[in-house]
Amino acid sequence: MQHTLHDLGSPDFEALRVRAFNLRWATVDEGVIPLTAADPDLPVAPAIIEAIASYIRVPHFSYGPSTGLPTFRNAVARHFSQTKHADVDPARVIATNSAASGITLVAKHVLRAGDEVIVQDPVDFLVAESVRRAGGSIRFWRAEAGRFTLDGLRAAITEKTRALFLCHPHNPLGTLWTPTEVRAIATLASERKIQIVSDEVWSDVVLDGRPMRSFAAHADEACAPWVIYGLSKGFGLAGLRIGAVIAPDAQRAAEFSHAQGFDHTIEGVSTISQIAATAALEQCSEWRAAFLTHCAKQRDGAINRLRKLEGITIDRASEATFVVFANITATGIDESELAQRIEHHAKVKVVPGSPRWFGTAAAGHIRLSLATTHEILDEALTRIERAWPLILSTAQTPRC
Ligand SMILES: Cc1ncc(COP(=O)(O)O)c(C=O)c1O
Repeated sequence: MQHTLHDLGSPDFEALRVRAFNLRWATVDEGVIPLTAADPDLPVAPAIIEAIASYIRVPHFSYGPSTGLPTFRNAVARHFSQTKHADVDPARVIATNSAASGITLVAKHVLRAGDEVIVQDPVDFLVAESVRRAGGSIRFWRAEAGRFTLDGLRAAITEKTRALFLCHPHNPLGTLWTPTEVRAIATLASERKIQIVSDEVWSDVVLDGRPMRSFAAHADEACAPWVIYGLSKGFGLAGLRIGAVIAPDAQRAAEFSHAQGFDHTIEGVSTISQIAATAALEQCSEWRAAFLTHCAKQRDGAINRLRKLEGITIDRASEATFVVFANITATGIDESELAQRIEHHAKVKVVPGSPRWFGTAAAGHIRLSLATTHEILDEALTRIERAWPLILSTAQTPRC
């Protein structure tokens, strides 16, 4: 297999085989292509490597400021105003160990045991997991025809609803609310005194030049949202565990950092990760543009080919993210069984739409991550196409 890629550099697959965990290269059998966890195969932007290299040349790794380096907090605030239509005061930004950690800490901070919380279904498991860990009681907001609508939200809200945990843009559906929809959701939540927590880890992977409006823009609402950000998706920094929480205002940021252990060095982020993230946010806009163009091409190519397979439907192209959520109901095969058959017969690993990963409404779907090279994706799809008749007709052979 050739692994060339213009502008973005070529992945080092030997390195990925020992470094890429979480269902990816380091965890699959030799010869299997993992289109699994949403973690790009592509090498990170050169400016990130240069920033880390220059930082580690100075031999001091002292404690950093508890809520993050000012350079990092400023960079996040600027990035939100430049790319997400939200003017953010850097005093609202707290550096966290990834988006996953950020949403879990915010859930712990804003929820009390038994609080009724609306969570989308389907959605990445981390959203519901953060609510459960905080003792929240979940009420689901189900997608209709692959979209989350305001009417659906109205129907999900009850007198007891305390918070609304959102994924924007949406993993795994790949949908993006328009700025008008974001305003309408923020206004409705405010009217009903419902606290929004918006996981925007995917907000750097918005495709086709669509406008991304962050819920952080609604700081003046009565129930101003908390926003979660991360650099695992848009800049490939998953292993550096770097993200941020954007509090509704500076005071609540300070209360959060005190209550959640930042002021006591219990929480706090590696300075190296913050240096890398700052370089990503400040010096890599051209790299990001090339990455987004690549993601859109991968999406278009994959959708065209997957739609030709018997039993697969994909209603619309993803507006954001680099995942495709394919409806496999018409195959008549359960999603976990189908994923196993794909791995067995085509040597490609995909994520089944099981409750474990995306909630009960994900049934009848599989998710494929496309953030790899054109060549690897082509190889994976070719294998699936060739094996498809066998996949449809043969149950997976049990392994000894
Ligand atoms: C909605 C959502 N939140 C959080 C994460 C995890 O991000 P991080 O690596 O920053 O913890 C993911 C990863 O897929 C995700 O899809």
